[in-house]
This record gives sequence, C-alpha cells and structure tokens, in this order.
Amino acid sequence: MRHLLLGLIEFREHNLPLYAERFRELSAGQEPDTLFITCADSRVAPNLLASTEPGELFTMRNVGNLMPPAHADGISSGDLSEASAVEYAVTVLKVKNIIVCGHYRCSGVEATLRGDRLGLSDNWLRHVQDVREKHAQHLGLEEDFARRSARLCELNVIEQVVNVCKTTIIQDAWDRGQEVTVHGWVYGLQDGLLQPLGMTVDSNETLSQHLESSLTRYQPVAQKVTV
Ligand code: CO
Repeated sequence: MRHLLLGLIEFREHNLPLYAERFRELSAGQEPDTLFITCADSRVAPNLLASTEPGELFTMRNVGNLMPPAHADGISSGDLSEASAVEYAVTVLKVKNIIVCGHYRCSGVEATLRGDRLGLSDNWLRHVQDVREKHAQHLGLEEDFARRSARLCELNVIEQVVNVCKTTIIQDAWDRGQEVTVHGWVYGLQDGLLQPLGMTVDSNETLSQHLESSLTRYQPVAQKVTV
C-alpha cells in the first residue's frame, strides 16, 4: 500500500503537469474508438501494450476476459456488466473496434484445466469449462499442460469473440449499417507480444468464415495410430 501511495504522490508531483491539459479536455467527454476486453490479471496492461493514452481505450475487464453468451431471449447468462459495457461502447460511444484480448498462462483458464474448486468463481469459470467441452476435439490429445493451457487460452478468446458478435447489441449495430469490427488477440506474458488469432469479424458472414479458418490450426493434434 505504501508503494501505491508513494506512486500517487510521484504522479501528482512529476507527471500530472504533463497530463493536465489532456485531462481538462477529457473532462468534457470521451471518444475512444476501441473497446478493449481483457482479463483482470495485473500483468496485462492495455494502455502500456498499445501505447495508448487516457481516453483512447474503453476497457472492460474480468477474470478470463469473458463475454458470457446470451440465452435465446437475448439476456446475458453472465451478469449485466459485460453486456452493459458492450452496449455503452457500441450505441453511445460508437466504437469502431472491439478487441477481446486473452493471455497465455491465464489463471482462470488453468484452474478450469486442472479442475480446481475455488468457490464462488467456479460459477464464473463455468463459461471457460463450456469452451473446453465445446472444443474438446480441438484440445485433442495434447498432454503437455503448458501447450494445453495455451491452446485453451486461444480457444477461449475465439469463443468470446463469437459471443460478442452474437449479442443483440452487435447484431443490431450491423443491421443498421454501423461499422464495428470484433477482433481476437492473445497476449504473451513472457514476451510482451500481442498475437492476432485470425478473428477479425465485421459481419455474420465473416464470423462464420473466420471461425472456421481459425479453428483449422487446431486440427493436427497427434492421434495414436494403430497399425
Ligand atoms: Co487471466
């Protein structure tokens, strides 16, 4: 806590003057062109990674960078905070891009892979378990835990992109001709690099095309060959 308080003082004394004008401008309103959905993990720092400044990224974070799928009636199966963030970003801020950014070695994903029981969060991570079960064939026979984890982190991002696209918020935006593109990225904690996962979706047509082509990379998991 002391470190944090000293940091606040340091910012106020040394950096605030550099930002003062920008903060004054931003107090009048925000016009970010991107909604950034990522994990709550402290090691993922969106503004640092993207070299963006205050006011440039509208950010929504939760454990596992999840956008729970909507039920058939269009109501989110998570709580309403995720859907509200997407709705505000799309209908009010009119962002042009939504980035779902997962990261390797995600604790939420790895807890799911190990079958850990954590308590309340098991209910939240059920959404990751659903991804794991849905893509069981894409996880295949991969036995190495790190590779299995990496693969599920990527599949989780891909599936969250699908969930964002299928919300009535995005469907309605596309129907009225509003341009909004949903991207799937994954971040490497070790190398600081962001990788696109081939999910750059701006319509229902590109959603099915890119989903199919993105998943093809997961097919060649070694199968035991019996002669
Ligand atoms: Co995480």
